[in-house]
Amino acid sequence: MLESISGFSKKSKEEKIEWLVSQYFDNNPAAINTLKQYWNDDKKLQKLHDGFIENTISNYYLPFAIAPNFIINDQSYTIPMVIEESSVVAAASYSAKFWRNKGGFTSEVISTTKNGQIHLNFYGDDIHIQAFFSEIKPKLLASISSLEANMKKRGGGLLDIVLKNTTLSLEGYYQLHCTFETNDAMGANFINTCLEAIAKTFETEARKFSAFIKTNHFPEVVMSILSNYVPECIVKAQVQCPVEQLTAEGIDGKIFAEKFVRAIAIAKVETRRAVTHNKGIMNGIDAVILATGNDFRSVEAGVHAYASKDGKYTSLTNATLENGMFIFSIEIPLAIGTVGGLTGLHPLAKFGLSLLQHPTAKELMQIIAVAGLAQNFAALRSLVTTGIQSGHMKMHLMNILNGLNATQTEIEKTITFFKDRTITHSDVVNYIKQLRN
Ligand code: HMG
Repeated sequence: MLESISGFSKKSKEEKIEWLVSQYFDNNPAAINTLKQYWNDDKKLQKLHDGFIENTISNYYLPFAIAPNFIINDQSYTIPMVIEESSVVAAASYSAKFWRNKGGFTSEVISTTKNGQIHLNFYGDDIHIQAFFSEIKPKLLASISSLEANMKKRGGGLLDIVLKNTTLSLEGYYQLHCTFETNDAMGANFINTCLEAIAKTFETEARKFSAFIKTNHFPEVVMSILSNYVPECIVKAQVQCPVEQLTAEGIDGKIFAEKFVRAIAIAKVETRRAVTHNKGIMNGIDAVILATGNDFRSVEAGVHAYASKDGKYTSLTNATLENGMFIFSIEIPLAIGTVGGLTGLHPLAKFGLSLLQHPTAKELMQIIAVAGLAQNFAALRSLVTTGIQSGHMKMHLMNILNGLNATQTEIEKTITFFKDRTITHSDVVNYIKQLRN
C-alpha cells in the first residue's frame, strides 16, 4: 500500500505529475507525454481550465459537434453537442431534418420554480415548532434580503418557506422547504447561500423561543442544501404530423406509427426497457447540457427521479395516434442556466450559447428538451425499422478504422466495401487484414 501523501494539493502541476508517474507508472516518460500532449499551448487558456477543478494534471477532450436544421417554435437552430458516442449527433441531425418540413418542434416551459431544504431534527411537541415557525417566518424571509437583492431586481428570489412535518418517514425529521425563482441562473450557489443564512437565523431564534426553553427541546439543523429534484421546473416539447408523412425505410407510415407507439408503450411498462429508452433521450440532453456549460449530473439525477415520480420508473416520452395524427412528446424537469458558473467561463460553453443566439434559461430548457425528443425519435425509428446496429456501426466505423491505424486508402476502400453491408468489428478487422495481405 502507498504511503499517504500530505500537502499534495499545494504541489505544482509538474510536481503532482512527477509524484503520480513515479508512484504508478515506473517513471515512464510516455505517461508524462500522454498527459502533456493535451496541454494547451495558450498558457492563459490552460490556466483557466486548470482552475475549473482541483489537482488538474491534463485536459480530457470530448468532441464538440453541431446538429443543424432544427426548427423550434418556428425558429431555426443549430444545436451544439458535446458527447463521445458515435451516431448521437447524426441521429439528432436526422431528426431535425425529418421534422423540419413537418412544422418542426414546438416547446413550452411549464414552470421554473427551484427548491432547497433545511433538514431539521426536532423531538419536541409538533405544536411548538409550528408556533415557532409561524412567529419567525417573516424574520426568516427577511434574513436574506441583502443576499437576494440582485436576484429580486431581475424578478427572482426566495418565493416561500414551508415547514414540513416529515416525522412519519423518519422520527424527529422536519424540513424547511424553500422555493426559489432564479431566472437565467441555474441558481445552485444562490440557493445554497440563502438556505445557510435562513438556517442560521432559524437556529438563533429557536434558542430564544420560550416553549423550546421550557421543554428543553430545540430544533437542530442537520444540513441545508438545494434539491436537484425540480418537478416544479418543467419543460415540454412535441412534434406531430399526419401518419402518412411518417413513411420510413419502405414501411407504411401508419404501420411505422403503430410500431413506434407500441415501442413507447413497452418503455412505459417495462423498467429494463425504460432505462435504455431514457438513456437514449439523455444522449441528446447531456450533450447540449455539456456544450452549454451546464451540470449534467444534476440534470441526470433530477430527470431519472422524475421518470419514477408515479412510483415506477417509466418512459420520459409519450406517443399517441389520434385521428390519423402522430403526436410525440417529452416532459422533463430541467434546472439549467445561461449565466453564471461555467457558462460564462468556458470559452466553448460561451461559444455554444452564442451559437444558440444567447438564449434565456427558458429558451435553453426548450432547446434541450427538443434535443432529447429528437434523439429518442431517431433511436426508436431505427429500432422499429432497420435495427439500431446498422446506423450506429456506420457511424462507429471510423473509430474502428482509427483503432486499426488505417491509412486513407484503406479507409476509403473499407467505407466503399461496407456501404451496403452490415458492419461488425470483426468483419472490419478481417477486411483490413485482407487488404494488408
Ligand atoms: P441514415 O438514414 O442512414 O442517414 O441514418 P443518411 O445517411 O440517409 O443521412 C440522413 C441524415 O442523417 C443526414 O442528412 C444527416 O442529417 C444525418 P444530410 O446531412 O446528409 O443532409 N446523418 C449524419 N449527420 C452527421 N454525420 C453523419 C451523418 N449520417 C447521417 N455521418 C443515422 C443514419 C445514424 C442517422 C440513423 O441510423 C439513426 O438515427 N440511428 C440511431 C442512432 C442512435 O440512436 N444512436 C445513439 C446511440 S445508440 C443508444 O445509445 C441509444 C439506444 O439504446 C436508445 C434506445 O434503445 O432507445 C438506441
